[in-house]
Amino acid sequence: MAACDWHAFGTKVACISSLFLSGMRNFVIIGNKAITTPTFSLEDIPGTSGRLDILCRCVTAAFVLSHGIRKDVCVYLVLLGGEIPKTIQLRGETLRHLNPDERTTAALLKKALAVSDTPDWALSTSGIFVRTGGLANVLADLKGTSMLCLREEGADIRSITKSDPSGNVAFILGDHMGIAPEEEAVIEQAGAVAVSIGPVSLHADHCIALLNWMMDTNFFWK
Ligand SMILES: C[S@@+](CC[C@H](N)C(=O)[O-])C[C@H]1O[C@@H](n2cnc3c(N)ncnc32)[C@H](O)[C@@H]1O
Repeated sequence: MAACDWHAFGTKVACISSLFLSGMRNFVIIGNKAITTPTFSLEDIPGTSGRLDILCRCVTAAFVLSHGIRKDVCVYLVLLGGEIPKTIQLRGETLRHLNPDERTTAALLKKALAVSDTPDWALSTSGIFVRTGGLANVLADLKGTSMLCLREEGADIRSITKSDPSGNVAFILGDHMGIAPEEEAVIEQAGAVAVSIGPVSLHADHCIALLNWMMDTNFFWK
């Protein structure tokens, strides 16, 4: 390929990537047994919180860069381990105090869970909001966004075509227990497409790291 062709190719790639960067990346993670009160111990997060440690690692994978925080990411943690479900939302644009370690993230979530119950988003710390309500409410908020549900047996993610020209996308993932039939029904009703990133079952946070890489490099949705 001649030098000028490479230049044209590079420009095209840059245009496409900036188009993707303009979209919002939403990650929705379902915590099947995740606690909805701040009564867990930071000394034993896995043993006392219904596996909030998994959700903490997902938060790290979604936001944390080598030197900064992804601004175009929003994470919804759907906590189903209480009497009524709660959702914590983390918005990259205003998110502060997030460090790469699990304990700091768990401490931020603990603060959010201490906020009084309300069905409307209530601010906890900068960029972190909490409300009562579960997956159906989140997916209603994300209506109009291209929704992809991560499932080992879904369609190859590389075969997916973009349905929202803005580039906004929502990825829905399960925790160590996967996605229960009740949530599957809600996800299906919202019109999400089940996609797989390979035949091997991975940890949810590893899937998120791969999804971020795919979006960064325009690996799918060409
Ligand atoms: C540790 S896996 C869940 C395993 C759980 N035992 C199950 O049976 O579903 C956590 C989540 O990561 C996502 N996941 C893991 N591997 C995947 C793959 N190869 N393709 C798509 N999603 C995957 C799914 O959303 C899954 O619910």
